[in-house]
Amino acid sequence: MGNVLPHNFFFFFFFFCFFFFTLLNPTSSHAKKPTELVKSICKNTTIYAFCVDALYSDPRTPTADAYVLAFISFDLAYLNATNTRAYIQTLLSRHGSRPDSKLLKRCDRFYGEAVQALALALNDLDSESYSELASYAADSARKARDCQAGFRGRDTDHSPLTRMNRDLRGLAKICIVISNIFTVSL
Ligand SMILES: *[C@@H]1O[C@H](CO)[C@@H](O)[C@H](O)[C@H]1NC(C)=O
Ligand SMILES: *[C@@H]1O[C@H](CO)[C@@H](O)[C@H](O)[C@H]1NC(C)=O
Repeated sequence: MGNVLPHNFFFFFFFFCFFFFTLLNPTSSHAKKPTELVKSICKNTTIYAFCVDALYSDPRTPTADAYVLAFISFDLAYLNATNTRAYIQTLLSRHGSRPDSKLLKRCDRFYGEAVQALALALNDLDSESYSELASYAADSARKARDCQAGFRGRDTDHSPLTRMNRDLRGLAKICIVISNIFTVSL
């Protein structure tokens, strides 16, 4: 009987430690205070919280200037488009003849073009040429929109890519806002 109390004590002690460290953990995205630069960028995007969360998924963001943030945002968009394209190809290879396979094939092509546009943007960033960045990002957003639009109003109304299309458009919007920092000040 005398041993029960200490066990319980330690159990609750560790439980509360865990609880408080989880709540107050400064690396959790909601406890993080965005830099002024990130705030000013994300205020100009469609969804402020999506923008902050996306940028802070990269460890470089807390100390990043506009140039590094441009790399981060285009890296995120490029990776997102690449991952989504791989997912589309998995869907296509797993079920040879799904009712929406025609639409998925179109999306595969659109996403190929989006990946290409974002790769060109990253090249331009490398060579510090900024004039086309926003239009490459806008291209990639348009491809995601075209992919999603294909599913509208058909009997296969249910797009398996709704969330991914929305994510790419959200990331592209961040890229556009950051790209405009360079072209406006030049
Ligand atoms: C945000 O938008 C405002 C109004 O269009 C503009 O003046 C400002 O420069 C923009 N800031 C950034 C970081 O894009
Ligand atoms: C795309 O980016 C969003 C926002 O950062 C993320 O939540 C999502 O998991 C990414 N999707 C893929 C397929 O990489």
